[in-house]
Amino acid sequence: MPDLTDRHASVVGPVIDFDTTIEIVASEGSWVTAADGRKYLDFSTGISVSNLGHQPPTVKRAILDQLDKVWHSGMVFRYESMVSAAERLQRVTPDGIDKFIFINSGTEAVEASVKLARKVTGRQGVIVFRGGFHGRTMGSVSYTTSKAKYRQGYHPLLGSVFVTPFPRPFRWKMTQEEATGRAVEELHLLLKHEIDPSEVAAFLIEPVQGEGGYYPAGVDFLTELRRLGDEHGVLLVADEVQTGFGRTGDWFATSGYRVRPDVLAMGKAIANGLPLSAVGARGDLMDSWPPGAHGTTFGGNPVCCAACVATIDTLADVVPQVDKLSTHAFDRFGEMQQDLAVIGDVRGLGLMIGVDLVQDDGHTPDPGAYEHLKAHCLEEGMLLLNCGPDGNVIRFIPPLNVSTEDLDRGIDIIDSGLRSYRG
Ligand SMILES: Cc1ncc(COP(=O)(O)O)c(C=O)c1O
Repeated sequence: MPDLTDRHASVVGPVIDFDTTIEIVASEGSWVTAADGRKYLDFSTGISVSNLGHQPPTVKRAILDQLDKVWHSGMVFRYESMVSAAERLQRVTPDGIDKFIFINSGTEAVEASVKLARKVTGRQGVIVFRGGFHGRTMGSVSYTTSKAKYRQGYHPLLGSVFVTPFPRPFRWKMTQEEATGRAVEELHLLLKHEIDPSEVAAFLIEPVQGEGGYYPAGVDFLTELRRLGDEHGVLLVADEVQTGFGRTGDWFATSGYRVRPDVLAMGKAIANGLPLSAVGARGDLMDSWPPGAHGTTFGGNPVCCAACVATIDTLADVVPQVDKLSTHAFDRFGEMQQDLAVIGDVRGLGLMIGVDLVQDDGHTPDPGAYEHLKAHCLEEGMLLLNCGPDGNVIRFIPPLNVSTEDLDRGIDIIDSGLRSYRG
């Protein structure tokens, strides 16, 4: 029998580009076990999906209990787990987000959010921010500008989508304040020259850019979007698919920033690994989105909703601990940065930390450093991901309930990997 990698290659299309060829056979907490018996510290967390680590017992129990009752899909019956999931979301989402719908994936949540915005405002324009990642389906890929590769070969994309800069202080060699000023200025120019605000349905933004390189938008930039939105009737749509469910130290990054979105796209960690996503919105907006204007077969599957309820209940004790772990991780990366010229910048919120690896000039991205580090981590039994258009930013996203010991173990491995890099 050929090994799994060969069998995979002969029957699974290569377009879905897996990060490693490791075959996993078991998982628990922050660890996964490979078929050869090796254990890996999993700091990839499925790109911020398993915020509670692998197989959290409370979520597993809820899934099994629900399986014994109902696991039908298809917009026919009402069921307890969906209503409970929406009630939980209402409790943890930013003030003003009152009603919810459930779908299956992040990209669908973004598409549904924009459909809602277009339908209720009667406007078509959407403004997005360069470097954003919003998914891969035709609508969402039209909003995704983190890498040209994701759009290459798929044109024409959706019309009336306008791209404006997102503040990137390190890349622009500016302070956060200067970068915010530049991004605000560009946005105002866009609204003057390309689309009148009266025709814009939504600003679609990640409050911390994920795939784009772990850049926080900053409170001043989000506040300006809120102000412009209120002035011109443009909805603020926060894509919190990656930042949600405690990742940034608050339930949602917009709650931490105290900037109220009108629409909130959620996914990834919402059910700690089962396929579920949701859109939340102001009650008046949801109520003016008429019945049948959107739909789904599998969205809000009862088992996924039960997992969501248990995930949120379990996270309630975990989210308040994130700040402490975050401070510890930032301190350690900060110390490392003093010693190692390859670290150009350390940024992010909570346990969503980007470590920008650069060449000797202190600024030019060094993807080779990340490739060296990734190989080192695999050797040492750790899984890590990167982000940013150049692939040079460490995407540090451990489970939120990681032990301090495992957190330090992971950072130690990164430290030794970067120290052994010779450019
Ligand atoms: C911010 C953001 N939005 C949307 C998506 C798309 O989610 P999915 O892959 O579940 O479709 C992602 C996925 O990485 C994301 O990070």
